[in-house]
Amino acid sequence: MTNKIDYGFGAKNNWRRRVWNTTSKMLSFKKRKAVCLYLANETDIDFQIATQKGFDPNNLIAVNKDKKIVENIRKKKRLAFCGDIFDAARNWPENMDIDFLHLDLCTGLQNRVLETPWNIISGKLSPDAVICVNLQRGRDSQTNEFRDKVINEPNIKSIFGDVEKHRGKLFFISLISWLAHFAKIYSAKNGDGEIDHILISLEPNNDGLYWARFQTWVKLFNNPVFLTYKSKDNRNSRHGVTMDSVIFQMPFQINCEAYSEPTNDKAKNSLKAISAWRTMRK
Ligand SMILES: C[S@@+](CC[C@H](N)C(=O)[O-])C[C@H]1O[C@@H](n2cnc3c(N)ncnc32)[C@H](O)[C@@H]1O
Repeated sequence: MTNKIDYGFGAKNNWRRRVWNTTSKMLSFKKRKAVCLYLANETDIDFQIATQKGFDPNNLIAVNKDKKIVENIRKKKRLAFCGDIFDAARNWPENMDIDFLHLDLCTGLQNRVLETPWNIISGKLSPDAVICVNLQRGRDSQTNEFRDKVINEPNIKSIFGDVEKHRGKLFFISLISWLAHFAKIYSAKNGDGEIDHILISLEPNNDGLYWARFQTWVKLFNNPVFLTYKSKDNRNSRHGVTMDSVIFQMPFQINCEAYSEPTNDKAKNSLKAISAWRTMRK
């Protein structure tokens, strides 16, 4: 199930292109219309690649917690939010949806990353938003036990094949297991009998139906893409680090309002200003 790319040179740039290409294909509408929220560093290379690929510069919103990085991006007259990307996703203005959430986290699969599925789901995503999560293999000994359990679980093996150390697969599995554990699905069907509306209830449920629910959730996510590449390690130039990612499309919009964290007014106001600026430029 893994699409392995392992380029010796320019590996990250190849990966970046692959991510924006895969996203264009997964989006169910024209990429020019897609509003993208992405983690950026000072070079903001994703902006360059995304615009080359046909994404609209006015729909690309860079995010970083670091004020200096954000100021530098804004100096280039680009849209940028300063703060936590999950805060941005949860406090998103009503007049736009997030169509692509690009989480180039670059950390190991630490405990706080395992909490991320909830942070993703409670963001204001469009009904079939595309999500990318990129993680480093290693520097995550705190989740050794979790990873061993997942890798050796026969039910996981039968669905995902060999998970080995792939942090993108492990992240995706943690998202599915989170949903299977907490979220009962109530589906509403349209006239053709197709599921077009799904409601979930968030209650821990340890009954024997867990794996059946797990399988149902996996089937709802259509063909996630798993990638791997080697990156230079700034701290140790002789050895590269292995990076794993997953790109998937949300099968539907989940209404988490009742379970959301309190509003962050500072983030909300800043995003309103970004939205107004974006409207003016369009
Ligand atoms: C790996 S870099 C992004 C690189 C970029 N995608 C590229 O390819 O050039 C991630 C940046 O986001 C910041 N960051 C990590 N998690 C964040 C979060 N939850 N909210 C905001 N910024 C975050 C990190 O400090 C880092 O500067």
